[in-house]
Amino acid sequence: MNTYLSMKNYFKMKQVHPYPRLIPTLFIGLLLQFNWSCSQHPLVKSIENSSQYTTVGTIFKSYCTRCHGEKDDLQGGLDLRSPSSIAEGGKSGPVILPGNAKESLLFEMIHEEEMPPDGGKLSPKQIKVIQDWIDGLES
Ligand code: HEC
Repeated sequence: MNTYLSMKNYFKMKQVHPYPRLIPTLFIGLLLQFNWSCSQHPLVKSIENSSQYTTVGTIFKSYCTRCHGEKDDLQGGLDLRSPSSIAEGGKSGPVILPGNAKESLLFEMIHEEEMPPDGGKLSPKQIKVIQDWIDGLES
């Protein structure tokens, strides 16, 4: 009975609105599109999927995010707290070139001991972890 009624309504609606499904379809399409454009920087997926990201994220949290994320005033325009903010890069542009640590600004700066700038140095092992992580990221 219920089904019958709703079928009846559906046909009634169909007479008034010739394309009753067009609007919801468009709406869902727009939502998907929006979601896609927000999350689909390919580097974000690659960072999320990398097995070393847990270790790297911990290093960033201990040595970097007090200047790169935790305060309103982002140093160098760079937020190192999440895969998407890392993928966004800083005021100079991308800081990570997936698969190529040596050409990545972030690696250069820790390798040259420019970052962190106030003495809290990374150990050679931590620098190597970050290097291997960037080299292993898919572009
Ligand atoms: C004490 C604060 C401080 C800490 C801690 C710090 N940074 Fe920085 N960082 C800065 C400042 C200031 C700049 C901007 C330098 C400039 O533009 O001359 C910067 C810039 C950068 C840039 C360049 C961003 C761009 O787009 O130009 C990278 C990459 C970077 N930092 C990585 C790191 C990493 C990785 C760590 C942790 C290992 C770290 N920083 C820790 C203060 C800090």
